[in-house]
Amino acid sequence: MTGGPPIELIDLRKSYKLGPVELDILKGVSLTVEDGEMLAIMGASGSGKSTMMNIIGLLDRPTSGTFRFEGRDVALLSDDVLAGIRNRRMGFVFQQFNLMARATALDNVCLPLLYRGMSLGDARKKAEGFLEKVGMKERMRHLPVELSGGQQQRVAIARALIGEPGIILADEPTGALDTKVGREVLDIFGGLNKDDGITVVIITHDPSVARQCGRAVLMRDGVLADEAVPA
Ligand SMILES: Nc1ncnc2c1ncn2[C@@H]1O[C@H](COP(=O)(O)OP(=O)(O)OP(=O)(O)O)[C@@H](O)[C@H]1O
Ligand SMILES: [Mg+2]
Repeated sequence: MTGGPPIELIDLRKSYKLGPVELDILKGVSLTVEDGEMLAIMGASGSGKSTMMNIIGLLDRPTSGTFRFEGRDVALLSDDVLAGIRNRRMGFVFQQFNLMARATALDNVCLPLLYRGMSLGDARKKAEGFLEKVGMKERMRHLPVELSGGQQQRVAIARALIGEPGIILADEPTGALDTKVGREVLDIFGGLNKDDGITVVIITHDPSVARQCGRAVLMRDGVLADEAVPA
């Protein structure tokens, strides 16, 4: 049920009030992400990449401008509808994994399904399949602290995937990983994009990540420009 591209930003602006000062962070961002695309977002630290991603991920609202998700203007949707979109259409992966420390890998992956009201037994059955997909089935009874960084990120990816989202949003998903493990994690995203047709948007500082993405945009002074994909 898609009435448009997964993401369409039109002249998006975001300002923060810091005491008497107004900080303009996004100054008219326009971006269309097409269905099935794999896009890298680059740009200097503090340029507004995460600010934009949090708006795309429905965690924050813009000060002005339009964000259409699959053709629907999100400004017109209720919080309940937005929560539903977040839970069913989007998957998030963060730099610091953001797993629940006291839950096993398996139960971390179950969470999005439990929010939907699925029984724990059914959720665990489904979660096992997704952990297998990211090569983590043998470690599914481990707590996050008992896993390496790359393994934790695989669990986080399984958690992002279990809702069967149409789009994955990843904010520096390889930033906390060494080069080799980072590449393995990126290969998982590449496979999801190619084999399952999932739209992937990745914030990264790493030109080699951008190279694997096919298209890259650069955030600079609060606006986006096309960026040549590094050779
Ligand atoms: N809640 C807030 N209140 C005030 N300023 C904020 C707030 N959140 C972010 N900012 C400012 O917005 C700017 C952009 O931050 P953002 O996190 O989007 O940068 P980024 O491009 O993701 O950087 P990095 O590559 O370091 O993650 C920063 O200057 C930051 O200080
Ligand atoms: Mg950031």
